[in-house]
Amino acid sequence: MGFPYARLRRWPDVEAENLQAHDATDVLLVERALALDVPGEEIAVIGDEYGAITLPLVAAGLTGVRVHQDLATGRRALDRNAADLGLTGYAPHELDAELLAGARLILLQLPKSLAELEEIADAVARWAAPDVVLIAGGRVKHMTLAQNEVLARSFAVVQAQRSERKSRLIVASEPRDAAGEPRFPVAQQHVGLVLVAHGGAFAGAKLDIGTRVLLETLDLDRSGAAPGGEPGDAPAARTVVDLGCGTGALAVSYALAHPDARVIATDRSAAAVASARATAAANGVADRIEVTHDDAASELPDQSADAVLLNPPFHLGTSVHTGAATRLFEAAARILRSGGELFTVYNSSLGYRAELTRLVGPTEQVHRTPKFTVTRSIRR
Ligand SMILES: C[S@@+](CC[C@H](N)C(=O)[O-])C[C@H]1O[C@@H](n2cnc3c(N)ncnc32)[C@H](O)[C@@H]1O
Repeated sequence: MGFPYARLRRWPDVEAENLQAHDATDVLLVERALALDVPGEEIAVIGDEYGAITLPLVAAGLTGVRVHQDLATGRRALDRNAADLGLTGYAPHELDAELLAGARLILLQLPKSLAELEEIADAVARWAAPDVVLIAGGRVKHMTLAQNEVLARSFAVVQAQRSERKSRLIVASEPRDAAGEPRFPVAQQHVGLVLVAHGGAFAGAKLDIGTRVLLETLDLDRSGAAPGGEPGDAPAARTVVDLGCGTGALAVSYALAHPDARVIATDRSAAAVASARATAAANGVADRIEVTHDDAASELPDQSADAVLLNPPFHLGTSVHTGAATRLFEAAARILRSGGELFTVYNSSLGYRAELTRLVGPTEQVHRTPKFTVTRSIRR
C-alpha cells in the first residue's frame, strides 16, 4: 500500500486549501531512495518540510534515519505527523558532523537560497562518507543552473535528471576534499555592529534596509535612545523581544544600547538562531541575550514583554488569509503586557496599520521613508 501523503499536515505552519504538506519532489526523492536499498542508518534527510520524505522511509521499514530541518514549525509538524501515523525510526539533528558521519545517501529538498545550499553541500562533502551520494530535488520552476554550479564546488560529479511531474532531481557524487575551515558562518562589520550569518539566514551578514530604518527610528544605531522615548525614559530592566530575529541585528543593537535590559531573540529558523548567537558573541553581549528556536515565541509567557521589535516576513501568497506576518502580530499581542509597545517596520505598500490596530492596539506611524513605514502599537 502506498504512503498516505494526503494525511500529512503542515500544522503549526500556516495551513490553507492551496497549501499542501508534500509535493512531487518529496515523492520522487522517496522513490529514488527506496530503489537504492540503502540502510536507514546510512541515510540523512535535509530540508524535509513536514515529514513527507522521512516518514515514507520509516513507514517502509527503515530505521535510524537522520533528519535536519531548519524550521521549528517543520520539526513540530514532522513529530505530529509521525505520532498521528504511529511512526518512529528517525532522529533529529542540527546541520553538523553528527547528522552526516558515515552517511552514504543524502536526500535534500533544495533550499531557497544559494548560500544555504552552499553551506549544506560543504557540510555533506566535509562530514559524510567518501562514497556519499547527494540527491537534491526541487520544483522545476524554482530551479536554476546556479544550483548545479554551487553543488559542483563541493562535488566532482553533478548530474541533473530529466524532469518528472514538474520536479527534477540532481545527483551529486564524488565529494571534493573540503580544504580549510567552512566558509560559513560569514561575518560583516557595520557601523557599531558585526553581523554573523549562516547560509540560511535572512539577508546574510548584510544589514537589511528595513532593519536599518527601524534601528535609525529607535536611535539604536547611534545614541541608544529607548524605543518610543527619550534616552533615559526606559525602565532600568525592560524585557525586550526581537521577534523573528534573523541574524540578531535588532536584539544585539538593543542590548548594546541598554546594558540593563533583558533581551530575548527568537526565530523559527535554526540557521537564524545559530547566526544570532554568533552575532551576540561577536559583539560581546552573548551573556545578555537569550536566543531561542521557537515558532512565533510560543514558549514565552503571555504578557511577559515590555517591548517587541519586529521586521516581519512577507506574506506567503495573496490567497492565504492568515499569513506569516499576521502570525507574528498575534504573537506580539500575546506576549506584550498591557501598555507594552510593538515597533514594526514594513514595506509601505503592505499597509499593515489597520491589522496591527485590530490585533495589538492603537497604532501610529512613527517614521516613513519612500519605501518603509515604522509603526508603534500600544498593547491595549
Ligand atoms: C524579514 S526577517 C527579519 C530578520 C531580523 N529581525 C532583521 O531585522 O534582520 C523575518 C524573520 O522572521 C522569521 N520568522 C518567520 N516566521 C516566524 C515564526 N512563525 N516564528 C519565528 N520566526 C519567524 C524568519 O525566519 C526571519 O528570520
